[in-house]
Parts: sequence; structure tokens; C-alpha cells
Amino acid sequence: MTLVEVLVPTKITLFGEHAVVYGIPAIASTIPVYIRIIGKRIDENIVKIRIEKGIQIPSQIFVVKRDENVYEVLGDQNYTKKVLQYIIEALNLCEERLGLNTRSLGYDISIESSLPQGIGLGTSAAISVGITTLCMALNNYIINFEEQKYEIAEISWNVEKRVQGSASPMDTFTISLGGLRYIEPLVPAAHLIDINYEIPLLIGYTNRVGTTAELIRKVKLLREKNENLFNSVLNTIKQIVEKAKDAIKNGDIETLGILMNINHGLLRALGVVNLEHDLLTHILLKAGALGVKTSGAGNGGAFIVLAPSEESLKNLAFVAESLGAKIVAKGIVKEGVKFYIR
Ligand code: PMV
Repeated sequence: MTLVEVLVPTKITLFGEHAVVYGIPAIASTIPVYIRIIGKRIDENIVKIRIEKGIQIPSQIFVVKRDENVYEVLGDQNYTKKVLQYIIEALNLCEERLGLNTRSLGYDISIESSLPQGIGLGTSAAISVGITTLCMALNNYIINFEEQKYEIAEISWNVEKRVQGSASPMDTFTISLGGLRYIEPLVPAAHLIDINYEIPLLIGYTNRVGTTAELIRKVKLLREKNENLFNSVLNTIKQIVEKAKDAIKNGDIETLGILMNINHGLLRALGVVNLEHDLLTHILLKAGALGVKTSGAGNGGAFIVLAPSEESLKNLAFVAESLGAKIVAKGIVKEGVKFYIR
């Protein structure tokens, strides 16, 4: 029986989250924090899912009957339920695309992650991309992986839309293709911004209250209350993203820091920056950071810090951790999703 291992990077949004939901371009990148998925086909008509660690729950096994797609999750485990939804939707949509008799196949899947679910590092997109890749690999559909990554991105985006109600293509396209990407959500396209230097970035998170879907709804309500003002915020974010693309290409990290701080201020205006992130921002800037910004849907969760040099990353990481944040990575990576036949 073929065993497939999928390694999926998570991601940060450098510029343009929330605005990207309204068609504005954004800049995102994969980071060296991975979710590992291992799976094989089984003869029974079930999906057996083992969640090994992280994702805010101890190791657990769930069995989902394919023909019913119902799963009982005992107790207050909304996060677990969400993870299962992404997995089952990804299998369903992948099998539909492959022209297979959806819901008649069985899988044994295990997922390992060191990150809690829903902190703004694209964990749900990583699960959608990872399970779609696994399904394609196990059903012998992958011939030219590099080219098929676009198809994986598109299916996974549909998974996110089904589970969350609304989602931009940013997370799924970035995670499938990998690297620093300029996202055009209306196409959709994810252009590689190819650079040959390291951006001195620190990536961390604090507790997050609320899901991505809830935060998208919160921003939508704000838009309904004052559309003109909202549109001018979107327009400013659009200008920031364009300037940031140039600054990244030119290696102008001072300008990049200024743009991150302005983008953070606008996220605050949209109501998605919490007190903890406000404090972190002030203190890290005082400690020498060039830019500090909430990354992702907000209300806590992921944040990114731009340091003046690689050497100053350590000191800034120390400051962030002493304020209660968790640092998960330094720098970004070029790779997207990968798989191995075992
Ligand atoms: O917090 P995350 O990783 O779920 O990112 C959400 C980013 C948003 O722009 C708020 C939503 C989206 O679909 O792009």
C-alpha cells in the first residue's frame, strides 16, 4: 500500500490582509514552520484521522463515515471540528476533480503540527493544500507537480470558501506555490517576487480570540456602516502594497518598515488589532524594530517584526518573548507544498 508524506509550509501576510478579500492585491510568503501529513488509502469506506499534536488538542483519532460525512466531536472542541471539516471538504473536492466516485474511498491520515489552529499563519489553508496534495498523490493524479500546484491551490481555495463562507486565494496560492508572492485576488494570480537577500523578519504569535470568518464579518460590518471611508482605507492599503513590492525588489528595508507600520495602523482602523499587539508594536519599535505588524486576520494571533539586521533579530525575539509572545520563525522560505512517496 502506497504511503504518502506531505510537508506543508505555513505563511505570513506581509501586506494587504482583509483588503485582499475586497479584490486588493496583497504580499504573502511561506515560512519555515511546517504541517506534516502522512496518509494511505484503505479498503474501508471511512476516513480515519489521527491528529498527533498541536492544533490545541492532545493526540486524538477520529473516524468519519464517507457516505454520511458526519462526525461527532465531544465537548467544547470547535477547533477540532473545523480541522475535520477542512479535511473532509478537501477530500470531497479533490475526488470530484479527479472524477472519482466521491465518498466511496477510504483513507488513513495522520497530521502533525506544532502550531495551534487559527492564529493567522494559514494553518487551515495548509491543511486544505496538504490534504488535496495527499489525495492527488494517493490517487495517482500527479504527473507534473510544479504545474499541478495551481490546480491544488484552486481546489484548496474552494475548500476554504466552503468551510469559511468567504476567503481570498492568498493563503492557499502562497502555500501551494511557495515563496514571496504578490497576490492578485481577482485573477487569481500569485506572482513570485524573486529576491536574492534575506529579509530580517521575526514571526511570532499571541493568543487570538475569534476565527478568521468572524473577523472577516466584523470588517464587512464596518464597510456596511461607512462605505466611502472604508474604500479610502482600501485604496491606501493598495498603495502600500504597490510601494512595498518595489521596496522589497530594491532591498529597501527601511521603507519596508515604514510601510509595515502604516499597514498595521490601517488594520487597527479596521478594528482587528488588539491591545496585546498594540503593546508589542510600541515596545518592539522602541527596542529598534523597523516595522511591526499584525499578520493575518488579527485580533491577536500572528505578528511580524522587521529588524534592521540579521544580528538584531535575537534581541527583538527576546523582547517579544518577555512580553508573552511565542516566536516561531526567523525569515521566510522559497518552497511551497512538497510530497514524498514512502
Ligand atoms: O488569519 P489567517 O491566516 O486566516 O489569514 C486571513 C487573511 C484574510 O485576509 C483576513 C482573509 C483572507 O481570506 O485572505
